[in-house]
Amino acid sequence: MSGLRARTPGGVRVFLALDFENLREARAELRRLGGARCGVKVGLELFTAAGPAAVKGFRKDGWRVFLDLKLHDIPRTIERAAAAAAALGADLLTVHAAAGPDGVAAAVAGVKATRTRILAVTVLTSQGGDVGAEAERRAREAVGAGAHGLICSVDEASRIRRAVGPGALIVTPGIRFAEGAVHDQKRVATPDRAGREGSDAMVLGRAVFGAPDPTVALRKAQKLFNMGLKS
Ligand code: C5P
Repeated sequence: MSGLRARTPGGVRVFLALDFENLREARAELRRLGGARCGVKVGLELFTAAGPAAVKGFRKDGWRVFLDLKLHDIPRTIERAAAAAAALGADLLTVHAAAGPDGVAAAVAGVKATRTRILAVTVLTSQGGDVGAEAERRAREAVGAGAHGLICSVDEASRIRRAVGPGALIVTPGIRFAEGAVHDQKRVATPDRAGREGSDAMVLGRAVFGAPDPTVALRKAQKLFNMGLKS
């Protein structure tokens, strides 16, 4: 797997999920992390609370920003929302693959000629069961519709990599340390397994911010991921 890595924005391998109530709290949590080379993920909670200022502010501070809005609507609405996200300077934006090929294509059209790349969410990592075939089907369809990459669990990453080839970005949430709590996630995996299975970048939320020392947890996750990449 090691040779088949897609280029991530800024080459970062970690996006920190800023699932916090407001920008002040998100910034305070980020300050606890010493000099980490990673990007940030602004999701539904922070974007609903803080709005465009969240994306613009982190971009201005030099972070790569993954805007995780998981768009799922009629194509015209998706296209216009994607164009608005691109205007904010988001590096990555999510659309639900379940919005269908027309929905994914609309998101791609909305960000055309901008820096923003579209990732299609295959199946949420909080959903359990045998979702491999469905995740692969949605991944193929989304990439066929022009998606630049995919969000999937580590469980499906290598299968999806084989299905869509080396060019698509594969980003995996649901990351936990072997000894850590799982929370509401179902399909979780360790950082080293994420690296081994063909993930280009991980999303890290509670595994880092819920740790007694987030800096130590982040470094450990990065080290394990890199070990996985090389194995
Ligand atoms: O804290 P934790 O590591 O579980 O956070 C995972 C983050 O990734 C959350 O912000 C969640 O919304 C997001 N995500 C996910 N599963 C997906 C897509 C995004 O958990 N399929």
